[in-house]
Amino acid sequence: MSTFKAPKGTYDLTPPDSAKYLAVREALSAPLKNSGYGYIETPGFEDVALFSRGVGESTDIVSKEMYTLTTKGGSELALRPEGTASVLRAALEANLHKLGNLPVKLWYSGSYYRYERPQKGRYRHFSQVGAEAIGAEDPALDAELIILADQAYRTLGLQNFRILLNSLGDKECRPVYRDALQEFLRELDLDDDTRRRIDLNPLRVLDDKRPEVQKQLVGAPVLRDYLCDACKAYHEEVRDLLTAAGVVYEDDEKLVRGLDYYTRTTFEFVHDGLGSQSAVGGGGRYDGLSEMIGGPALPSVGWALGVDRTVLALEAEGVELELPSSTSVFAVPLGEEARRVLFAKVTELRRVGVAADFAFGGRGLKGAMKSANRSGARFTVVAGERDLAEGVVQLKDMESGEQQAVALDALVAEVQQKLA
Ligand code: HAM
Repeated sequence: MSTFKAPKGTYDLTPPDSAKYLAVREALSAPLKNSGYGYIETPGFEDVALFSRGVGESTDIVSKEMYTLTTKGGSELALRPEGTASVLRAALEANLHKLGNLPVKLWYSGSYYRYERPQKGRYRHFSQVGAEAIGAEDPALDAELIILADQAYRTLGLQNFRILLNSLGDKECRPVYRDALQEFLRELDLDDDTRRRIDLNPLRVLDDKRPEVQKQLVGAPVLRDYLCDACKAYHEEVRDLLTAAGVVYEDDEKLVRGLDYYTRTTFEFVHDGLGSQSAVGGGGRYDGLSEMIGGPALPSVGWALGVDRTVLALEAEGVELELPSSTSVFAVPLGEEARRVLFAKVTELRRVGVAADFAFGGRGLKGAMKSANRSGARFTVVAGERDLAEGVVQLKDMESGEQQAVALDALVAEVQQKLA
């Protein structure tokens, strides 16, 4: 160990486990690539005001969890705590909404940072795969995203997750509900912090996990009763499309998300094997966000799936991903001349696309064979002076244990044929 450790709330991805994370990222994004979403990448930090305006001053993310910094030039920046505000900012900046047909459909994958209290499944640096469909109000688009996330989790082999679905209303009906809820909450016996939340973000009070608070919330006005006709019809259509696609969901009128930009459709993917940090992914519609950050009206919808928690969920279910071995051939030279000859063969194999590795460091046969085993390679190639004098190498099939002498010149073709 060195003097240093990974910062609190973070962890490193190292082989062989890191391969699992790559496979999960790949699986979560595969359905998007297949559905018209284009890849977008934005900086790891942004103007801090993008998040305070976009995500909302009153949210935990902005008020407590942002990593902010002042640059030498005096700019106020924040490490990105989420992707939606950045992606929308970038799409507007590149005028993607003016270039062609709406919606603009984008996907991304990367690191996000929140100064949260670390615990299992909750980290200060974590990784998301996300999707945003910008500039269209169409229930089929909301349904598409939920269906694609469901497909992504299922392809990975995940089963014990549930989809929670809600509608948060729009700028017509939500304020009416908010007033009614505030009036109800003000009558309750709550601590000062929670009282402050009644003014700032009363819907979040519904999300309070404490039993003494939950007990008092019985009989609180529910948003569903306040939805306007347009929101109701929109939500019904999303539900019908999901049902028609065979996607099972649960209506959860208490689902409030930790970001302020949501309108209408909101959803969360929760996994029951994860304890308190059960959300493996979440998202929803954010029809007002573009205007909040100075853009034109662009109703949009999206989600982000947590890579770290998806890996934990797979582990909780005991799902083993099928990870192809990264090395097909491992070369073990015995002696100086063999080292040069086999190194050249490894290079040749790699150039024709065969994954190959080499016993570096001249550690002798026993150590080298250990490395060959650990590499997971299907074949090892061993050669010493006597083999080379005869113009052959020993090709060993690690699965069957069979070994045969192969002419040096025929090795590459022979291996290619055996692997095909
Ligand atoms: P979010 O619910 O804040 O939404 O995060 C999405 C997912 O990221 C969570 O469900 C969780 O799996 C993962 N996640 C969040 N925080 C942490 C953490 N501290 N440690 C580990 N994993 C975490 C958003 O970020 C929205 N931008 C989603 C969205 C996209 N809405 C519309 N478009």
